Amino acid sequence: MKYRHAFHAGNFADVHKHVTLLALLRGLARKDTGFLLLDTHAGRGLYDLGDADARKGNEAATGITRLEAFLTDADRPAATELADYLGIVQHIRSERRDRRCYPGSPLLGLHALRPQDRAVFIETQPSEHAALRAAVGKHATVECADGFLRLANWLPPRERRALVLIDPPYEETAADFRAVQRALNETLRRLANAVVMIWYPIKHGRDTDQWLERLALQWPTAAGGAAIPCLVTELWVHPRDNRAGLNGSGLLIANPPYLVAEQMRLWLPELHRALDPARTGGWLVRESLAVTSAP
Ligand SMILES: C[S@@+](CC[C@H](N)C(=O)[O-])C[C@H]1O[C@@H](n2cnc3c(N)ncnc32)[C@H](O)[C@@H]1O
Repeated sequence: MKYRHAFHAGNFADVHKHVTLLALLRGLARKDTGFLLLDTHAGRGLYDLGDADARKGNEAATGITRLEAFLTDADRPAATELADYLGIVQHIRSERRDRRCYPGSPLLGLHALRPQDRAVFIETQPSEHAALRAAVGKHATVECADGFLRLANWLPPRERRALVLIDPPYEETAADFRAVQRALNETLRRLANAVVMIWYPIKHGRDTDQWLERLALQWPTAAGGAAIPCLVTELWVHPRDNRAGLNGSGLLIANPPYLVAEQMRLWLPELHRALDPARTGGWLVRESLAVTSAP
């Protein structure tokens, strides 16, 4: 595998994914009972934005760094979700005495957990796994394994509540999309109320829409036949059908907690203004998989 998340750490897609992850965790924490955070493709947990890999594409410059500058210059307070995310990033930076570091999903997630919650992180590459283990210490269970295969081992959790983050590299794009679909079905079959968050790349908008349409046809139902609620959110910083590379970031969420979609309609436009100053992209929040009109 060639993929190293260090090349992309803190880019616009990470920001979209991580703000949303924290919003979902805050939503789950509205109930006192504990839950499991299961991150099947966890990465190394902590990235150095000053190292050679990160500097190569300098992707954080148009992600976290751009958001920080936008909010510093803004004449009004940031949306709660954006302020929460930046507050945690800054907290981790000062805790580690390292202003250049950027926390990945495991470290950000851990900061939003309460004593009654727990976390399991899975990463397949031994070097990334070792770094992850060092980054999270004793605060989570960390496995060096295939997250798609190990997912079933952790579900259903004893808490009967979970947030499952599935964030593969999409190096083998078609195979990863198929594996993601299987993992989604398996998760919801084992725990129908699981909050599942799947990140997907938007390279060619039409391909993305076809994938969502296919998922809609096979979308799982809970016992008794009730449809499992879903939420689609996208942020794109180039036209959705640009052939240039990664145009946008998408998240498919099953069982979104109460009010997350409503709040997202407030913070996502602000995040889009911050990360797409040329306004060539856009944003989307939709509580259905059906692609009824191209945005
Ligand atoms: C997009 S990165 C994860 C980023 C992380 N979730 C975050 O937001 O900070 C994908 C990670 O999945 C790892 N990976 C690839 N295939 C995997 C598999 N089958 N099981 C577990 N991890 C895998 C890669 O090594 C890489 O570190």
